[in-house]
Amino acid sequence: MKQELFICPRCRTRLERTTPERFTCPHDGLEFWNVDGIWRFLLPESEAHYARFIRDYEAIRQAEGRGSNSAKYYQALPFKDLSGHLKRDWRIRARSFKLLVNRVLTKLQDPLERSLKVLDLGAGNGWLSNRLAAQGDRVFAIDLLVNDRDGLGAWKYYEHTFTPVQAEFNHLPIMDRFADVVIFNASFHYSEDYTQTLEEALRVLSPKGRVVIMDSPVYRRSTSGEKMVEEREAQFQEKYGFASDNLQSENFLTYSRLDELAKKLNIQWKFFTPFYGLRWMLRPLTSIFLQRREPSKFHLIVGRKHA
Ligand SMILES: C[S@@+](CC[C@H](N)C(=O)[O-])C[C@H]1O[C@@H](n2cnc3c(N)ncnc32)[C@H](O)[C@@H]1O
Repeated sequence: MKQELFICPRCRTRLERTTPERFTCPHDGLEFWNVDGIWRFLLPESEAHYARFIRDYEAIRQAEGRGSNSAKYYQALPFKDLSGHLKRDWRIRARSFKLLVNRVLTKLQDPLERSLKVLDLGAGNGWLSNRLAAQGDRVFAIDLLVNDRDGLGAWKYYEHTFTPVQAEFNHLPIMDRFADVVIFNASFHYSEDYTQTLEEALRVLSPKGRVVIMDSPVYRRSTSGEKMVEEREAQFQEKYGFASDNLQSENFLTYSRLDELAKKLNIQWKFFTPFYGLRWMLRPLTSIFLQRREPSKFHLIVGRKHA
């Protein structure tokens, strides 16, 4: 790993590698350690902010039966869910992944004639990082979670090498203009401030790079998104005894919110829509027929900076 890559997530000074397992900020003296193979860049002042989210989120994900003790399970993602618990979810992830590779990454890589530098943001167990590392890309898996079933700790199960980094979207320890692609991997809607999160993504993006929002729910009307959040919180409350609502996440996107962000940040969006099957495609019609709220849409939303 080249040490000039990492910067202090608080003051953005270039870090010094003071031991093989430690970076130090020469400006404010903060130390960042590699523990169990994961670089820890979560700022001390952010730990309390995320503590309850992490606790609630991990409890729910465990109850949902996510993860496994078998390396085979992780290596087969997203194409097969060997646990059998969430097959439908992984089928969706696999379709999005194929579209990401075919329509975005391959096109970006061809003219560069080198492997891509990728940030997998909200990487969870790191399945995407593993797949892209297999293609030869240099990948950083970034997340708040470090547990080894559903978080970055699962890095040890994979056969391809990537760099697991514990950090938050809005304070990335990555130098300016480093990445060819920044991918929000089913995670953008967890952001508590889309503007700030995108500003940080654009900071680390190379001038010709792309920011990708994958598998985040999009609605035409914000009232539909609000209804979805209410339904989900009520469901969590009933099932687990808490609503898991302590982060002020934006939770969903609308087309007009995306327009607003594009104007504000000078981004141009392009939408790709994976085919998730006939039943999924007919959901808008089914919802009208059954008088249910508008269902979410998942697109691959690809942003580039205006020239
Ligand atoms: C729905 S999960 C997706 C996990 C994985 N990408 C996948 O496809 O299974 C969203 C992930 O985003 C992470 N996340 C949420 N807010 C974050 C933040 N502010 N900074 C970094 N990661 C965050 C969560 O910890 C979680 O692992």
